[in-house]
Amino acid sequence: MQDLAGKHLVLGLTGGIACYKSAELCRLLIKAGATVQVVMTDAAAQFITPVTMQALSGRAVYTSQWDVREANNMPHINLSREADAIVLAPCSADFAARLAQGRTDELLSLMCLARPIGRVPLLVAPAMNREMWAHPATQRNLAQIQADGAVLMGVGSGLQACGETGDGRMLEASELLEDITTFFQPKSLAGQHVLVTAGPTFEALDPIRGITNHSSGKMGFSIARAARDAGAQVTLVAGPVHLPTPRGVRRIDVLSADEMLGATLAASQTATVFVATAAVADWRPASHSEQKIKKDGSGKPPVLHFVENPDILHTIAQGERAKSGRLFCVGFAAESENLVEHAKAKRERKGIPLLVGNIGPLTFGQDDNSLLLVDAHSVRELPRAPKLQLARELVLEIAARLPERTLE
Ligand code: CTP
Repeated sequence: MQDLAGKHLVLGLTGGIACYKSAELCRLLIKAGATVQVVMTDAAAQFITPVTMQALSGRAVYTSQWDVREANNMPHINLSREADAIVLAPCSADFAARLAQGRTDELLSLMCLARPIGRVPLLVAPAMNREMWAHPATQRNLAQIQADGAVLMGVGSGLQACGETGDGRMLEASELLEDITTFFQPKSLAGQHVLVTAGPTFEALDPIRGITNHSSGKMGFSIARAARDAGAQVTLVAGPVHLPTPRGVRRIDVLSADEMLGATLAASQTATVFVATAAVADWRPASHSEQKIKKDGSGKPPVLHFVENPDILHTIAQGERAKSGRLFCVGFAAESENLVEHAKAKRERKGIPLLVGNIGPLTFGQDDNSLLLVDAHSVRELPRAPKLQLARELVLEIAARLPERTLE
């Protein structure tokens, strides 16, 4: 997915062993559609060669403000003016100190100070030993550069190259890519609390077995991520799926429809948008056997009785918050045929303003899908695309339908 298409980034490397991760970051940024101009300090060049970064970025690397390749001999002006952002990864403790003081004795710091501050954001990924990270001087410097308008991307925790364990590792390249992508997304849901249900439910028959259905959870997780990227606070109530939690999203794991209803009802008290993507089992066994149900030797299968599960979406859509317009509800419909008719009928039956239809067998477990958006006035198709891209489009559609300000 080309989330960074059309973006031009200056990737600045300063001295630190985390420079080895910057090679991968450069590759990921380019894969995401960005063009990347690498600028390195002398210390960075001790850890990884400009040749490596040139090969990965497809552009000659800049290391000196005296670079004669620039006709006006002003690389700090030329390179910063054409950038959509400067990303410092890794940013060493020393470089943070120099930024805090506004020093300009080599190209990268000179470029950071000379950038048009209102137009070219500075994204900073610190990397250092845990004692250096915890030192009051470092924390003071980072607070200062944040106050001066830089965006801090945080640090990871764990085993460090020096053998010590703690905070201060540079985030992984994939995490930095996620943060950079998020930074560029329009904040269409800022101030909203989005609640998403995702995945299947599992209705236990006995301690060994149960009934469930096909749902990878990918669409719901993509919506949670897209909503977070759009600036919302996000709660994700997830059935049993093996997917990583999008960073910054509050995840509540549940198994059965009853558990999902409980967690969803609780979170809906403060939510302003509810998106129900979960494939909730319609029925559950009427009784749950404490022990494994054994074969009795007669050759006859056991007779199973089922009761209907609560309809989570319907329950919440009929609640006081939704009825008074403080909670905007969106449903999904997995159908196998006649999508338009079924989706229209289901929207009315569930009493919700927006329903998203899809053909179940064409989406289960896939990374892409196509969606049909049905509201009271229109039917609109979002053509086949990666689920995250569809989720971003859906988020914009939801944002456009929200009241001016959702009241608490
Ligand atoms: N849903 C829910 N709780 C249920 C069943 C469904 O919250 N017990 C939600 C789903 O998350 C989805 C929407 O309702 O947003 C429609 O789900 P779907 O399974 O397509 O429809 P059903 O209501 O089960 O209707 P049918 O089985 O007749 O198609």
